[in-house]
Amino acid sequence: MAKSIIALTVNGDPHELAVSPRQTLQDVIRDDLGLIGTKKGCTSGSCGVCTIINDEGEAILSCLTLAIEWDGCSLTTIEGIEIDGTLHPVQKAFIEYGAVQCGFCTPGLLMTAKALVDSNPDPDDEAINEALAGVICRCTGHIKVKHAIRNVSQFTSKSGKDD
Ligand code: FES
Ligand code: FES
Repeated sequence: MAKSIIALTVNGDPHELAVSPRQTLQDVIRDDLGLIGTKKGCTSGSCGVCTIINDEGEAILSCLTLAIEWDGCSLTTIEGIEIDGTLHPVQKAFIEYGAVQCGFCTPGLLMTAKALVDSNPDPDDEAINEALAGVICRCTGHIKVKHAIRNVSQFTSKSGKDD
């Protein structure tokens, strides 16, 4: 199948990529760019582990969208959320509140959490539950993740620059 050249900026780095019309964004990110922090789970929109952030700041499922549709866009993956080499506040909160076990769902949860707190720095339980509904944790569920997100402001107040 003929490939098309698309321009994608990922985590601030510009790329020109030859993609087939049926190649998902998930596959381009993982296989062509080598950014395997974006996980591959159900590949059908049910588990959320492939979540990345688009240039509108929205969490999107990279397995459900074709790469060719994102020509000219700027995307963020889990590899791109640190701030000047320092963990992002949501990453710090997840560590502090023990919200990580095997880690398979963690990139999807972190990207979901980042999109949420970027648009709503002090989300209530309803907003947190709604945001997390699409990301499945196979280990223990969302209780510690919710604690972490509720308390992320402890870390945002320091702008992610220290500690
Ligand atoms: S891999 Fe995309 S939702 Fe499961
Ligand atoms: S930490 Fe293992 S699947 Fe969520």
